[in-house]
Amino acid sequence: MTEHLTHVTHPLVQHKLTLMRKSDTSTAVFRQLLREISQLLAYEVTRELPLTTEAIETPMQTMDAPVLAGKKLALVSILRAGNGLLDGVLELIPSARVGFVGLYRDEKTLKPVQYYFKVPTALEDRLVIAVDPMLATGNSSVAAIDLLKKAGATNIRFLCLLAAPEGIARMKEAHPDVPIVTAAVDERLNEHGYIVPGLGDAGDRMFGTK
Ligand code: URA
Repeated sequence: MTEHLTHVTHPLVQHKLTLMRKSDTSTAVFRQLLREISQLLAYEVTRELPLTTEAIETPMQTMDAPVLAGKKLALVSILRAGNGLLDGVLELIPSARVGFVGLYRDEKTLKPVQYYFKVPTALEDRLVIAVDPMLATGNSSVAAIDLLKKAGATNIRFLCLLAAPEGIARMKEAHPDVPIVTAAVDERLNEHGYIVPGLGDAGDRMFGTK
């Protein structure tokens, strides 16, 4: 991917996102929409994966047919909201390896605090797709990418649902080599670090914890 930011404007993505934003959308419907939208976003984030060919036999004849090249890619969920995106992406790429980065946001400082880190082996040989629905201040995304690079990853993409201009700028400054794919770029962050107009707390909405 050459662009630092890819805004997925596909009408199905935009329609589903609007339904997710509505405050009267139930937890069950929110989760279902997230699953659907994450498959559409996965299609975009993997658009330029390298291909090779494999000799196969169709019922008619043999042919050299395209298959994905290289090692299985790694999906890394930034807990806990990342898991909502992860499920849908995994449905599309079932053989992907999966990692988790546990970061929570200190509500006073808005800084990320690490509590868990477990990722697949040979990260340096894989495309790594880090997933987190909300790119808000960018603090946790930058910290998660820092950890992934420390673990050896060199080819990383960041997949989210909503991004704030502040988070995009922070990521671009800290990790200009990591392309971002998002369904929307919203107006701004509010004083609590939430994206507006946004959709609220993504974790609470998908897990029904509020
Ligand atoms: N995390 C969320 O879940 N929502 C926001 O608006 C910002 C960060």
